[in-house]
Amino acid sequence: MPTNRFRKSARTVPAVVPGHVAIIMDGNGRWATSRGRPRWMGHVRGAHTVKEIVTHCARLGVSQLTLYAFSSDNWKRPREEVGFLFDLFASHLERQLASLIKHGIRLSIIGRRDRLPQPLVEAIAVAEQRTAGGKRMHLRVAVDYSSRVSMQKALAVGPAAMPAPDTALTGETILPPVDLLVRTGGERRLSDFLLWECAYAELAFLDVNFPDLAMSELDAVFADFAKRDRRYGAVPAPETIEIPGTNTPSLTPAR
Ligand code: IPE
Ligand code: IPE
Ligand code: MG
Repeated sequence: MPTNRFRKSARTVPAVVPGHVAIIMDGNGRWATSRGRPRWMGHVRGAHTVKEIVTHCARLGVSQLTLYAFSSDNWKRPREEVGFLFDLFASHLERQLASLIKHGIRLSIIGRRDRLPQPLVEAIAVAEQRTAGGKRMHLRVAVDYSSRVSMQKALAVGPAAMPAPDTALTGETILPPVDLLVRTGGERRLSDFLLWECAYAELAFLDVNFPDLAMSELDAVFADFAKRDRRYGAVPAPETIEIPGTNTPSLTPAR
């Protein structure tokens, strides 16, 4: 759930910070090809943006940040690109570990691990174990992730794994509800990301390619989030509803 935070800062910090932010980091390839460069360069630049986002969100007081790094459908890409991405994850995990620990950031990877290269699986295990005590922000990175598969798994476990929609839940098959979902790269779709968790998420689709995402643009999205009226199906203020064509003169909605 969003948190109210008021901080003294030279920069504008929104009064209401989304508690759980999810980001579909899209547009790395287009960033590169539009500059006549190979796609892998876009992924390298995207990894720098990831670092900036993690620091920025932790500073703003976001308590949960979930990043979509590799979907289960991304296996359809050329072998070389997939291999490059996994090597990049592993090297960044190792390089960022000290900084994550220092800043109190807990890291978890969500998605399948059985198809990942062994060195990456090991780097993940080390990073998760060494950051487990982080209390400031929970960073989840989705790798070989499919929301539909996660929901199937939760259903196979039984109804206990599919909690009431407003419950923050345990385990990592289904995550706590997302407050704000951001997608860069210009597409307006979810691409099998957090379908259950985004039931009442506010959505922000940005045309900027992920490597070019500036933190000022993220601030603008957060500022817009702070202004949104999240009604969850209710009405904004107590009022009487007239229902035309019925004998019921009025109904006062339950709260
Ligand atoms: C997102 O950027 C990164 C991954 C999916 C791994 P893309 O690689 O999808 O970039 P575009 O959409 O082709 O530009
Ligand atoms: C979604 O981006 C997956 C990630 C950002 C990791 P894609 O580029 O794979 O999505 P589509 O193919 O445009 O839907
Ligand atoms: Mg893409």
